[in-house]
Amino acid sequence: MTIDKTLQTIIELDQKHYLNCFGTRPPLCIERGEGVWLYGTDGRRYLDLIGGIAVNVLGHNHPRLVRAIADQAAKVIHCSNYYYNSPQTLLAARLAKLTGLDRVFFGNSGAEANEAAIKLARGYFYKQGRPRQQIVTALQSFHGRTLATAAATGQPQYSQPFAPLPPGFSHVPFNDQKALREAVSDATCAVMLEPIQGESGVHPADLEYIQLARTLCDQTGARLIIDEIQTGMGRTGRFLAGQLYQVKPDIVTLAKGLGGGVPIGAVLADETTSSGFVPGDHGSTFGGNPLACAAAMAVLDVYEEEGLIEAAAQRGQQLKQALYDLRKKHPHIIQAVRGAGLMLACELGEPQAAAVKSAMMARGYLIGSVGTSVLRLLPPLILPEETIAPLIVDLEAVLKEVIS
Ligand SMILES: Cc1ncc(COP(=O)(O)O)c(C=O)c1O
Repeated sequence: MTIDKTLQTIIELDQKHYLNCFGTRPPLCIERGEGVWLYGTDGRRYLDLIGGIAVNVLGHNHPRLVRAIADQAAKVIHCSNYYYNSPQTLLAARLAKLTGLDRVFFGNSGAEANEAAIKLARGYFYKQGRPRQQIVTALQSFHGRTLATAAATGQPQYSQPFAPLPPGFSHVPFNDQKALREAVSDATCAVMLEPIQGESGVHPADLEYIQLARTLCDQTGARLIIDEIQTGMGRTGRFLAGQLYQVKPDIVTLAKGLGGGVPIGAVLADETTSSGFVPGDHGSTFGGNPLACAAAMAVLDVYEEEGLIEAAAQRGQQLKQALYDLRKKHPHIIQAVRGAGLMLACELGEPQAAAVKSAMMARGYLIGSVGTSVLRLLPPLILPEETIAPLIVDLEAVLKEVIS
């Protein structure tokens, strides 16, 4: 791959000054985007199958989103939460209607939304004069990088170096009903789960597992927190992936796709659980500012106008089927295909995800990976049908090249 002069300069400066938490990046500096395509400073275009890690739900440079951001910026970008701002109120009302959870608080990221969810669940019991601290989460989960959300995350590599961690978190094997039954008691404050564990390789929860979590929470009074930061916003073909499981959580967290790329996170709760916060208990300087909320309103407008949730379900099904067919042809190369909607993964037969990613990039595709042997696809929900067939042809060629 050739490295142009702009890219060379960027790489050199980056190596000197950027505090690298992401490892070696491929030699690509993104300059602009259009729809599902990203363009590098090398002038090449790439089909974006990562979507900013499930963020760019409308793809790039969507005219409706760009206009909403520009119009709101020309009015007021930020004004603090001391005053009302109509995009915030309208967005809260709209999310409440979409989810059936009446109260919404806005932050700026997924970790912040989960941090708020943990505080809200504990505040709920504290306000009742019978404090509960224990939060049960799953092994291999991912809930964020703040100290509390890293402690909630069931992967010690994200938290161990930063001990001491906030106490009160325990982890159970995912999809293990017996372990969940044994872990939840009258002392449990909340059970916190992802409907599909994204960061550990796209592992869906069993229907019975999520339903059991709801039942156990009902029996013990514990709050059920569903982390929809990656699975929400229509990614799985429903507005919330939890809807696939037919359970109503007490608390839901959203971020990633909510602002279509503008940072925003949200914690949603039912009226009862919301009593965990009273004025002064929580806050955010930027959270819920007019710019971010206007962007999120525009994202939801486009969802309605373009039927994007239905599109994600349909396109996801087509892509999954195409990957299944590829697996059938090459069972030793693709060992499993997992996921729902446009949140999909291929488990490779060999630890060659990095080589596959880089060979795909040379052919004009940006795809994600988890660990050494999982390819992850999180494309924009606007992914056109006609991109699927050429993608599969190129993927097959690359897989045959890299894994023999
Ligand atoms: C399920 C889940 N929760 C929380 C987070 C953290 O979100 P953020 O990176 O916006 O803090 C992520 C990020 O990947 C996630 O996938």
